Amino acid sequence: MRISIVGSGYVGTTVAACFAELGHDVINIDIDETVVETINDGEAPIHEEGLSELIAAHTAPNGTGRLRATTDYAAVLDTDMTFLCLPTPQNDDGSIDLSVMEAGASQLGETLADKPDWHTVVVKSTVVPGSTADAITPILERESGKPAGEAFGVGMNPEFLREGTAVHDFLNPDKVVLGADDDRALADMRAVFDPLVEAADAPVVETDTRTAEMIKYANNGFLAAKISLINDIGNICKEFGVDAYEVADVIGLDDRISEQFLQSGVGWGGSCFPKDTRAIISAAEGAGYEPAVLNAAVEVNDRQPERLVGLLADHLADQRDHRVDGAKIAVLGLAFKSGTDDMRNSRAIPVIEDLQARGATVTAYDPVVVDNAPNYVDDVTYADSAAAALDGADGAVVVTDWDEFAALDEEFDAMETAIVVDGRRIIERRDGITYEGLTW
Ligand code: UDX
Repeated sequence: MRISIVGSGYVGTTVAACFAELGHDVINIDIDETVVETINDGEAPIHEEGLSELIAAHTAPNGTGRLRATTDYAAVLDTDMTFLCLPTPQNDDGSIDLSVMEAGASQLGETLADKPDWHTVVVKSTVVPGSTADAITPILERESGKPAGEAFGVGMNPEFLREGTAVHDFLNPDKVVLGADDDRALADMRAVFDPLVEAADAPVVETDTRTAEMIKYANNGFLAAKISLINDIGNICKEFGVDAYEVADVIGLDDRISEQFLQSGVGWGGSCFPKDTRAIISAAEGAGYEPAVLNAAVEVNDRQPERLVGLLADHLADQRDHRVDGAKIAVLGLAFKSGTDDMRNSRAIPVIEDLQARGATVTAYDPVVVDNAPNYVDDVTYADSAAAALDGADGAVVVTDWDEFAALDEEFDAMETAIVVDGRRIIERRDGITYEGLTW
């Protein structure tokens, strides 16, 4: 099929490259000329495992490959369907900000006014239940001057891609969710996903747009709450001198629980869990329901960074009456998880802010996040290695589970006071350091 994809961020670019890999003709539409040029040059505009290989394989000189990019919405006219992969940020109160989606729908609608034949529009961005039918579809109808269901169809297809493994996740889905409010749109969505469903033998769920939208929030809310629950249990374990990881290994053997997402520590961050939990809580409250468990999941997540810094402060107080005030603290890891250069909502942000509020000076090291860190935290010195960050430090906290931290050893000897508080269970306990795990 001929597919246009509006928005070329983490999701849009990955989805475009993967659809090309599946044999479709794909055009990415983005307002950012640099992004467009990068794709047309056969390169990935973002760091995502396997993505540059797919883009290089499917772009070709003079736009003759299966994958191309443009800034011009008119490209939609030469395609059968359009996926909207635009950002859905949050307002200050946590509710979803649909303005970028609405602007995209408006431009798409205007373009569709000139399309004589049927077109299917699919919302891929994460939007609260009802957004597709109640906000996006009316804009498309207004701007195109055509009725939905007759001239064009609208669907909703949530994504479950993890950053760092997005290409693998797309090509090996554990489910494909196709939400549509009319049969023709659903048939187009089936056709586009057919090669993937066959190759990956993935279960397909066909439903309406509202349910598809909710499935995404339920998925992310459940996973975020699962991590917060194991963090809550981990905090209890800590009080009783029990290793939460040993407990998690055993409860994970229960099929009903499963071993995934049971790593307790400093909590969840990133572009999805924090935003999506708050958005669905806000939407639920707007509808008159107070979601107690999801609210608690957010509360536990907010507390973990504070607990990490608290443990460090206790050790500093124990050892030679050191205080956090005036101490030099090494923060190991800035990315919200390993394998990505993304610092959005990283737990490193509240950890650093808390350390600074208590009077510490912070030296941070991350193997990937470098240039964009100052967008998230102020007054931090950046070291170019973990060893340099630890050198002369009065204490260290570990925020991201980068593999290279597991190999640290004599680097700790250069610390002024070798106190290490680990928020990700990545450092080995060893002689010569005071080691403290957050939940073990
Ligand atoms: C998540 C969802 O997994 C994905 O399906 C959705 O499409 C987008 O949001 P992502 O944000 O890339 O993906 O990261 P993920 O690997 O799920 O991790 C999220 C956060 O949870 C990270 O900060 C990670 O460190 C933390 N986490 C994860 C834990 O603290 N413990 C765990 O056991 C697992």
